[in-house]
Amino acid sequence: MTLRTVLRDGRPETVDADDDATLLDVVQDFLVCHSASKGCVDGLCGACRVLLNGRVTNSCRVFWRDVSEGAEVLTYEDVSGDPAVIAAIGAFEDELPTRCSRCVGGLGVTAFALAGKGKLPDEDAVEQTLASATCMCTGRASLRRALLVAIASPKNGATPAPPENGDP
Ligand code: FES
Ligand code: FES
Repeated sequence: MTLRTVLRDGRPETVDADDDATLLDVVQDFLVCHSASKGCVDGLCGACRVLLNGRVTNSCRVFWRDVSEGAEVLTYEDVSGDPAVIAAIGAFEDELPTRCSRCVGGLGVTAFALAGKGKLPDEDAVEQTLASATCMCTGRASLRRALLVAIASPKNGATPAPPENGDP
């Protein structure tokens, strides 16, 4: 077991977790956050995504022993009020209103990270982040469209482009 303090949305949280626990275990069991969910547990789907020190992180692939003292953790719950996140989730849910939503937490933190860079749409950045994320119900295309809406949101000084419906 290792006792360590992390900053959850700026608030210190002391966690005493097994070294072999994953960051996903810690987020769910100690930080009581369930927007990061268990999907593939193999680093491929992104359902478990959080921001770790500002970086989009598939938390199922990070062991607690490798998380540093004072590390900053942000979950979807922490960023869900951000305008770019709201834009992304809205675009996704408008397109897929009846799906399981397991990918929504990961989509939210990814949108926050991309839009937070303050850039106009950058499809390369979106493609890069989708290399380790997918919507297990429908594939990557719906996530891609939602992320493009996020990085083109008014937060970044651009008018959101409507998502195009198309390939799965
Ligand atoms: S559950 Fe972590 S990447 Fe799929
Ligand atoms: S994983 Fe089910 S809606 Fe994306």
